[in-house]
Amino acid sequence: MDDLEALEAEARASLAEAGDEAAVDAWRVAWLGRRGRLTTVLRGVRDLPPEVRPRVGAGANRLKAALEDAGDEHRTRLLASAADAESIDVSLPGRNPPLGSLHPITLTRRLLERTFRDMGFDVVEGPDVELEEYNFDRLRIPAGHPARDMWDTIWVAGDDDGPRQLLRTHTSPMQIRYLERREPPIRVIVPGACYRYEATDATHEWMLTQIEGLVIDENLSFAHLKGTLEAFVRRMFGADIETRFRCDYFPFVEPGAELGVRWQGDWLEVLGCGMVHPEIIEDAGLDPERYTGFAFGMGVERVAMLRYGVRDIRHFYRNDVRFLRQFEGRR
Ligand code: DAH
Repeated sequence: MDDLEALEAEARASLAEAGDEAAVDAWRVAWLGRRGRLTTVLRGVRDLPPEVRPRVGAGANRLKAALEDAGDEHRTRLLASAADAESIDVSLPGRNPPLGSLHPITLTRRLLERTFRDMGFDVVEGPDVELEEYNFDRLRIPAGHPARDMWDTIWVAGDDDGPRQLLRTHTSPMQIRYLERREPPIRVIVPGACYRYEATDATHEWMLTQIEGLVIDENLSFAHLKGTLEAFVRRMFGADIETRFRCDYFPFVEPGAELGVRWQGDWLEVLGCGMVHPEIIEDAGLDPERYTGFAFGMGVERVAMLRYGVRDIRHFYRNDVRFLRQFEGRR
């Protein structure tokens, strides 16, 4: 029992010298660890004569508990005094961590998606690498058709005998893919990136984001197209926005049109649209006498330029933080 007392005094003196957490850990290992000094004593208890064994065993166990507590207290004291030394003022407001922010095209795309969702549209996406067949042929733009010049194409190298692939020049191929899988009534939009082999300038980028729309049902007329798109434009740009439809040509619609809005005194095209060509309805296995519909496609960058007053489309993908920071905190 005297030995235990001496041991305790030595252990406490050595703990008092531990100046940081690592030193407390080392002390624990030296005294209470698997090969620690007190542990060795505890293990030796069973070799003592039976008459003293219980007393010494109990004393050693008490000492073990006491040293464990002492170690914990010492550690807590060290941490508290370290905190004092740094003098943390817990009443100060926190700092905002730099979390980054959403890109203006993402913001605009989300707004457009919300607007169409509110109008009852589903949202789906399609592949960026597309087959020539979907991007062109089945949209009534066969090889050699002059309308192919409307889209300068980035072809994807592949096998010579496989089907030709490209980076989709528009989101319209998803009209065909969707019609392959779904039955009317159809009301869907398709947001996504498109690519064009094109020199860039203030209004043209080689990569852009489009939103395609497709609506197919019984008894749909041009009046439904106009009503839907005017309702959309009013939701986006305000109830007083002036709109106009003008004739335009796209091989997959008949008649085709463009929708313009009056913006700061000028007419600005926001989208192309039209009644889905009856041949496309027929190719989808539907009766064009019974089913009709309309489609539209718009550029998200164009809408973002209007919303944020951006004059040059090339700002969007230059990744200049001075430009991007202006959209911080927007949702
Ligand atoms: N795909 C056309 C383009 O990239 C836009 C477009 C026009 C889509 C008319 C349509 C439409 O769905 O009906 O220029």
